[in-house]
Amino acid sequence: SRCIALLNGGGDCPGLNGVIRGVVRAAVLQRGWRVLGVEDGFDGLVEGPRCRELDLKSVCGILPRGGTILGTSNRGNPFRYPVANENGDVILKDVSRQVVDHFQKLGADALVAVGGDGTLKIARRLSDLGIPVVGVPKTIDNDLQETDVTFGYNTAVGIVTEALDRLQTTAESHHRVMVVEVMGRDAGWIALEAGIAGSAEVILLPEIPFDLDLVCDHIMDRRARGSRFSIIVVAEGAFPKGGRKIVQASADQTHGLERLGGIGHYVAAEIGRRKGLETRVVVLGHVQRGGTPSPFDRILASRFGVRAVQLIEREEYGHMVALRGRDVVSVPIEQAVDGQNLVDPDANLVWTAEQLGIMLGR
Ligand code: F6P
Repeated sequence: SRCIALLNGGGDCPGLNGVIRGVVRAAVLQRGWRVLGVEDGFDGLVEGPRCRELDLKSVCGILPRGGTILGTSNRGNPFRYPVANENGDVILKDVSRQVVDHFQKLGADALVAVGGDGTLKIARRLSDLGIPVVGVPKTIDNDLQETDVTFGYNTAVGIVTEALDRLQTTAESHHRVMVVEVMGRDAGWIALEAGIAGSAEVILLPEIPFDLDLVCDHIMDRRARGSRFSIIVVAEGAFPKGGRKIVQASADQTHGLERLGGIGHYVAAEIGRRKGLETRVVVLGHVQRGGTPSPFDRILASRFGVRAVQLIEREEYGHMVALRGRDVVSVPIEQAVDGQNLVDPDANLVWTAEQLGIMLGR
């Protein structure tokens, strides 16, 4: 019999509970193993260890629930962990030895780390330190390499699509330009797919720096054709040609624009100023990550969870589960974290959007 420890790292995402349930059912029900749930991600391994036994009853009814029953890490990285020094100042310290000690104290044979880019990088380094790790990729941004898609993404696209449908009717009634800022960090996946599904007029992606003059012309042409309203979807990482990203850039690089609240506010303010149109900004924010996962994400999360248990059974450590076509496969974590999955400006989906008359700012 074996014992698995499981943790979630980084931002939450719909489907995390599906992975937890999948791991527990495959391990406990099918194999008679034990599963320990680490609380609050790596924080729970640094402190404590803080964990609880996950039996079949503890995962009952959690598949449709968003978030994670275990909590996820806020402080996060054990290799750069914020701790107070003797003067009370917060410094970043490498507490990875502590994590290894605490993991050994649990008496677990393996660790399942469910997370995005950051968490998987940490997992890989912990596997170098001797913890037998298996990864499960998670993010609404869909920016992870080596897997066709991550769970949470499909749900986020659904939420944004529904929001766009709702915004269409109010935009039309008031003849307004609605600028909708969506998540995705450096990747434009949510903006692109939800923008197409929600019939956006303009979609601005981090992967294609935009020309605001062209965006304004496009909206004015549309007005001339009789449609006085427009929906513009802006990925939070989008930025104007020759400019810098507002998210993750320092204040001096953004010329104070971050004080306006983000790229969506910038785009709306500029369209209003240049063309005298009435604009409104909607920043969808964490709504995109909350609530119940879609059927697709419930299934993918369940498949990832049970496959992670099989990787442990086969002792394929240092690997993560991934979706390739119709199959859930195993790939080295190292390969997955070596780069990002971004929208290719020459991809067929981008071409499709442009053929539909959607303006991508270029
Ligand atoms: O990576 C997921 C994500 O939701 C990004 O889309 C977004 O930029 C970020 O996390 C927000 O992070 P936080 O939850 O820390 O505000």
